[in-house]
Amino acid sequence: MEVEILQKEIKEKINKIKSLNELEEIRVYYLGRNGKITNILKSLKDLSLDERKIIGPKIQLLKKETEDLIFNKKQELEQENLIPKIDLTKPPKKLQKGHLHPLTLVEQKMRQIFSGMNFSIIDGPELENEYYNFDALNFPPNHPAREMQDTFWIKQENKNINSKQRFLLRTHTSPVQVRFMEKNKPPFQIIVPGKVFRNEALDSGHEINFYQLEGLMVGKNITLANFKFVIEEFFHKFFRGEKIEFRYRPSYFPFVEPGVELIIKYKGKWFEVAGAGMVHKHVFEYAHYNPRDFQGFAFGVGIDRLAMIKYKIPDIRLFYESDLRFINQF
Ligand code: FA5
Repeated sequence: MEVEILQKEIKEKINKIKSLNELEEIRVYYLGRNGKITNILKSLKDLSLDERKIIGPKIQLLKKETEDLIFNKKQELEQENLIPKIDLTKPPKKLQKGHLHPLTLVEQKMRQIFSGMNFSIIDGPELENEYYNFDALNFPPNHPAREMQDTFWIKQENKNINSKQRFLLRTHTSPVQVRFMEKNKPPFQIIVPGKVFRNEALDSGHEINFYQLEGLMVGKNITLANFKFVIEEFFHKFFRGEKIEFRYRPSYFPFVEPGVELIIKYKGKWFEVAGAGMVHKHVFEYAHYNPRDFQGFAFGVGIDRLAMIKYKIPDIRLFYESDLRFINQF
């Protein structure tokens, strides 16, 4: 009778076990050197022969059964440990997402604002020829104005070539003006965002490769007043209605007449942000327009410069160093 009670007790205990540690405690408790079953086996010798004959086989059987139960339970628990435990109430780990570079963010914003003002977005080649980068923009041959923009020239074995065959990395986005006008008739309004290159000394405000956004609007009666409206509307939207002041200074670019430089006051500081002016009649002629038929304005904004103002970046080189400590802040 005692053996049956013990058997029931063991089964119940083993069933409830949740860990390998508990199981080991139970094993020691019943089968260890001083365990309950072990002690009964040890005490058999004190019983009478008849009693021994009855209890002996029963307790041997119980020992075997207990060993089997413990073995099976052990396997079951080890199996469970292999399956990762999922806590469905735990908040998920934050996924590492990629994000856009600050210059891309600024360029996208600019595209969006100008698209909203009905400007089309146009592309042009970064590897440009001398004709579109200089000649067609009214830079006279050998004129020092060409030196205003230090140029990366592509090496050419044959020196006996014309300027359409002499390649360079475009020094500004303005060559796309003539490329576009050759194929399209006014009225139109376009922007050309893109990468440009200048072989100049690096400092906190100057990179050798940077980004510009060109604007060109041509029609019958386009004037500088239209430019003033468009560009001021753009900056108000770009700086989300924060207070900005505008100043226009006379300036010289061979492809505009008159030429101006736009400076804006933002958070108490003045920044030079764009070159602009009325498209020069020679440029219209290069594009095979009759300058009497049309007039228009053009402008070029430094995208890096706007990003520096917007995000208060003291050094343009930070944009190009791929340092995640910087980039991750945007
Ligand atoms: C031009 O490149 C003219 N093509 C702009 C223009 C277009 C004038 C249409 C008139 C009509 P400029 O060299 O000033 O102009 O450059 C324009 C802007 O590019 C500058 O205001 C400045 O924001 C930016 N920029 C110029 N050089 C660098 C440089 N090395 N690194 C970063 N930004 C620069």
